[in-house]
Amino acid sequence: MSWIDNAVIYQIYPRSFADGTGDGIGDIAGIRSRLPYLAELGIDAIWLSPWYTSPMADAGYDVANYRDIDPLFGTLAEATSFIADAHAAGIRVIVDIVPNHCSSQHPDFLAALAAGPGSPERELFHFYDEPVNDWQSHFGGSAWTQVPDGQWYLHMFDPGQPDWNWEHPHVRADFEATLKFWLDRGVDGFRIDVANHLIKDLHAEGGWVDQEGVHEIYRSWRKILSGYAHEPVFVGELWSEPSALAKYLRPDELNTAFNFPFLIASWEASALREVIDVTLAVPATPTWVLSNHDVVRDVTRYGRTATEHIWIMPPTGWESDLTLGTRRARAAALLLLGLPGCAYIYQGEELGLPEVEDLPRELLQDPRWERSGHTDYGRDGCRVPLPWSGTAPPFGFSSGEPWLPQPASWASLTAEAQAADPTSMLSLYRAALRHRPSGPFAWLASTPDVLSFTRGDITCLVNFGSTPVELPPHQSVLLSSTPLVDGHLPTDTSIWLHTP
Ligand code: GLC
Repeated sequence: MSWIDNAVIYQIYPRSFADGTGDGIGDIAGIRSRLPYLAELGIDAIWLSPWYTSPMADAGYDVANYRDIDPLFGTLAEATSFIADAHAAGIRVIVDIVPNHCSSQHPDFLAALAAGPGSPERELFHFYDEPVNDWQSHFGGSAWTQVPDGQWYLHMFDPGQPDWNWEHPHVRADFEATLKFWLDRGVDGFRIDVANHLIKDLHAEGGWVDQEGVHEIYRSWRKILSGYAHEPVFVGELWSEPSALAKYLRPDELNTAFNFPFLIASWEASALREVIDVTLAVPATPTWVLSNHDVVRDVTRYGRTATEHIWIMPPTGWESDLTLGTRRARAAALLLLGLPGCAYIYQGEELGLPEVEDLPRELLQDPRWERSGHTDYGRDGCRVPLPWSGTAPPFGFSSGEPWLPQPASWASLTAEAQAADPTSMLSLYRAALRHRPSGPFAWLASTPDVLSFTRGDITCLVNFGSTPVELPPHQSVLLSSTPLVDGHLPTDTSIWLHTP
């Protein structure tokens, strides 16, 4: 047993969580001031998106110094005392590590540029006299960029994010030192960014993903964790096929990986049942995730006709019914928190925030917007600063102007307003975290539109069908995502029943 086996982990996107310094960008001081909120919510751990020194070409996923904090967010001393404060509040801290690429301002990349073609410095990256394949960057356009002396380097994301050459021993040693650096400061684990990309076969189609050699890296990383008594863990960001994914979860590799098939499954009993079965068949701690800083917020996604679409796209055909989306997101929350394993909440999910789809184009910062030639609106709409209190922007987020504007309609969605309303999304999350079921999982027989399972002495039901269903015999209703109708479970509703 490990603490992660049934942990609820809250993702903090630092620039949008809370601003303690008044510059409109969230920071460590802000996060610290909201620790009581997180403790009251009842989470076990937080995962922080990158807080490292960065020119912010990709909101901090372009790291210039893996062992220091960007001045936008604070200082290393603040980070260290924040970790201690979180621990004192009973909250563990997982940090992001970005091993596939660094920033083009990282000293090693600057040294490689200065040293010129053929130098040992260039061997830390993928430099060639010409592109050796036709790979496209995930943000659009070629994955190769030419430098002034004529050579080209590989970047699977933005040109500001050169890919490391993981065949080089210096790269391996340097990341091992970074892991130890943060473990020595008390972190409880790492979320590994694009964990399936590190090793590449530049001459194979799709040779940037799931190469066999990557597993050896994680085996050596896992040995590092074993040297620490406080049970630190890994969670991999792996958009891999289930068969490839399972390999990363072998006992001597990563403890967990995000369950993206669950996130992208459409809002249908059969689709979700299948994902749950596939997940539980893997002999590793299951995880459940509905959203993060890269995908459309679940309230908006579940309000669309095609609920599996996770990206925000150009205007037509993607309208969302937010009343429907919110109802389903509430039901999804009780499903997620009812399942056995580790559950993730992305900041604002507990407030039922929708995607902001009408941000002024000139304010968009996600590199996908520029790289796609303005065809991909990018991910800024799920990164809008949180509404904390008050009736008008900036809703207690900052004393300055938030880096992205918050919709005026969020007045009813502030943490303050929702804390006072027992029917709010926040109250639902708080109650669900307080009463989260434990015990063995077993499916119960049900009609095709209903998911029904037990966890110890709690029965969970989710009705995806269009007609209300009868409840099984029970002692009491623990929680229901929307009110019952004549004692029946209505459409798009989840319930937890006490059934001793
Ligand atoms: C991951 C991150 C994403 C980032 C990308 C490149 O997918 O979640 O935000 O842009 O990696 O680092």
